[in-house]
Amino acid sequence: MKILKAPAELQAFALSCKRSGKTIALVPTMGFLHAGHLALIDIARQKADVVIVSIFVNPTQFGPNEDLERYPRDFERDSKLCAERGTDLIFVPNPEDMYCSDASTFVEETKLSQPLCGASRPGHFRGVTTVVAKLFNLALPDYAVFGMKDAQQLLVIKRMVRDLFFPVEIIAAPLIREHSGLALSSRNAYLSADEKSRAVVLSRVLDAAGSALRANGIEVLPGVLESMKHEIKNAGGKIDYVEALDASTLESPTAKTVDLLIALAVYFGKTRLIDNTFVWVKS
Ligand code: PAF
Repeated sequence: MKILKAPAELQAFALSCKRSGKTIALVPTMGFLHAGHLALIDIARQKADVVIVSIFVNPTQFGPNEDLERYPRDFERDSKLCAERGTDLIFVPNPEDMYCSDASTFVEETKLSQPLCGASRPGHFRGVTTVVAKLFNLALPDYAVFGMKDAQQLLVIKRMVRDLFFPVEIIAAPLIREHSGLALSSRNAYLSADEKSRAVVLSRVLDAAGSALRANGIEVLPGVLESMKHEIKNAGGKIDYVEALDASTLESPTAKTVDLLIALAVYFGKTRLIDNTFVWVKS
């Protein structure tokens, strides 16, 4: 398994793969890999001849008071896991090599990035689309695999790919949960045992909401959202948002909406967790 730091070296490697007719799958990550990431690598492995995993805690997607500095990092462990999963190359750049000090070009999606995490983390998605566009230009992937835990991120990236004609197929990988139902996230490492056990409420309310909406249709949505919020607060969660939006437009649902994204962001202690479910509702 190769490990490269320099952007130009990754691009040269990708070009040589292309010239020899090999397909490339990219798994963009911020490291501190968990079983969710490993499932993305497995999908990439099935899809392409060459699997590239990028590990980069991207500064531009963190707000000034967010956890950029303390974001968990463990490159040694990550590289072992990548090797075990059959990764061909890890790209682990330095921030100053990804962003020139006078960089003045950014990639911004302006619609799907506005609600949910876009509203509570201004600039976050601009940072994500900018770094993902850079990674696509360096790794030249035929496929790129993203997890559905970051459902809004996935929609924003798909829109960027469509709008800017990136020649890459985006593959959505299912969200992976612990036995308890807690969605896997590198940020779960911040949770105390008590916070972790209380955070189980998130998957429980999403499950219950999905069942209620599937059984009774969209009319019950206001009551469903209220009871989700009530249960989360009872478990000690501090709500950033609990919302249901049309899953393809991320606009408020109407009576005609059949495909809903129910998404939430909730703090347990200082840790902000996100989770979601997609629901086909009875029309
Ligand atoms: O989902 C993530 O880990 C990050 O947002 C990504 C896609 C690697 C971009 O930094």
